Amino acid sequence: MGLMDKHKVIEKSATLLLVASLLVVTVGGIVEIAPLFYLDNTIEKVEGMRPYSPLELAGRNIYVREACYTCHSQMIRPFRDEVDRYGHYSLAAESMYDHPFQWGSKRTGPDLARVGGRYSNEWHVQHLTEPRSVVPESLMPSYGFLKDTPIDLKDFSTHLIANRRVGVPYSDDMIANANADLMAQADPSADTSGLEKRYPKAKIGDFDGNPQKVTEMDALVAYLQTLGTLVDFKTYDEAAGHR
Ligand code: HEC
Repeated sequence: MGLMDKHKVIEKSATLLLVASLLVVTVGGIVEIAPLFYLDNTIEKVEGMRPYSPLELAGRNIYVREACYTCHSQMIRPFRDEVDRYGHYSLAAESMYDHPFQWGSKRTGPDLARVGGRYSNEWHVQHLTEPRSVVPESLMPSYGFLKDTPIDLKDFSTHLIANRRVGVPYSDDMIANANADLMAQADPSADTSGLEKRYPKAKIGDFDGNPQKVTEMDALVAYLQTLGTLVDFKTYDEAAGHR
């Protein structure tokens, strides 16, 4: 019997074909899935990533609440045109503390994965308040009310605790200082030494231009200004031998 004839036997018997198919799928499945049980982590560790500071986390909550992800992605794909426009392609590690992640699937507006530091705080406040005053053809909605809405602080540590439950490494120290750190980050005259130790590279300032109160605008701008700024890609590329 030739090889083709043997194969005909399988093709002609429904039972044999089913059993053989199952066998093939099983082997393929094991080869794909089994290694995942032996790897400690499928995300490549990258220096610089840290959990969001309380103010940034509050801003992220507002970003999710206002559904900014329906128009903005936060994932730069490894294509030439995207990298030229937005910067280094996104790494898995850069969204490892995002619950839920904000990769998005719609780009009515530009990708925001590396928008941090690209504009001044004043620009963001102006743009979020009245997008068409800075980008005349913009169809982005206005979010001016954020400037008039003080942060509903309550006990902000509960947000850190919830994130810790799903794996974000917030320390007891971070949780104990959640409210104080949140207020201090938006106050240029506060003592921020503890905050800066807990959250390296945290940007400190009066983000919304109103020193009287900490508003949702402060939080959202603090969040936007941190996007894509934590990983130093000069060291990443050299260490990984890319380029
Ligand atoms: C209806 C779609 C839509 C929604 C919702 C939306 N945006 Fe936009 N966004 C746009 C468009 C279009 C642009 C490009 C024109 C402009 O700059 O205004 C833009 C631009 C931006 C920019 C400037 C990006 C750059 O690189 O120039 C930022 C920052 C931004 N949006 C943040 C936000 C935030 C934060 C939210 C949620 C509070 C949001 N957007 C909600 C459509 C949207």
